Amino acid sequence: MRKKLVAGNWKMNGSLKENEALLKTLVQRQLQFNQLQTAVIPPFPYLSQTQQQLHTSTILWGAQDVSVESKAGAFTGEVSASMLLDFGCHFVIVGHSERRQRHQETDQVVALKAKVCIENGLRPIVCIGESLGEREKGETLSVLYRQIDAVLNALDVDHIQRLVLAYEPIWAIGTGKSATIEQVQEVHQALRQRVAAVDWVAASALNILYGGSVKPANALELMSLPDVDGALVGGASLVAEDFMAIIQAAAVSAAG
Ligand code: 13P
Repeated sequence: MRKKLVAGNWKMNGSLKENEALLKTLVQRQLQFNQLQTAVIPPFPYLSQTQQQLHTSTILWGAQDVSVESKAGAFTGEVSASMLLDFGCHFVIVGHSERRQRHQETDQVVALKAKVCIENGLRPIVCIGESLGEREKGETLSVLYRQIDAVLNALDVDHIQRLVLAYEPIWAIGTGKSATIEQVQEVHQALRQRVAAVDWVAASALNILYGGSVKPANALELMSLPDVDGALVGGASLVAEDFMAIIQAAAVSAAG
């Protein structure tokens, strides 16, 4: 049985004051379920604050990016995997479409970042997703296979089990318009089969999250799909009540 994961990607949001209140509420209301992991992913400057507020809780945390460089050096603006470990990070989001689009991150760079994470004991949450144009042209699976194959080719086979995948259709991010449950299940099943062709055991244990306008109203039906193992939540993770409701939905689907 795969443990579901609900992670909140804060993107470039938050302040010391706002985070304190949000994290405090999450800790007070944290739900303990055997079949569920929860995490928050704040911007780099707030990792220390997050660590201080969460270290005695069951909620994990992570970072939104990592350098491909493992060793310290002259890399202005970069943050290494070992620095993230210093702040207790468990996860790192890599290849988010906002970074692929705005920072020209290629499939190869994303694959290298995933590899650096795993080699340093971090779990990469590798985001993949098609644009609306690609979906309309019937290219969804070929785009996703290109993105995932780059990562699978870069990793040792016995490292694949450390991966977390997040399917985030670009057209569903921040739009309020989630993919339909049929679209999500079709893609997640295809992704699991793609991984299974390389490592069947890792594929059956692989966490494949869905992301893109997940909210309390649609979380239960999305989380109940057989190949959906949790959610990567953007906007709704900034509102304690909404994030808790999504976690609760994931817990209900895990129990059911
Ligand atoms: P929204 O939940 O705001 O659509 O964002 C999804 C996302 O990009 C999570 O990484």
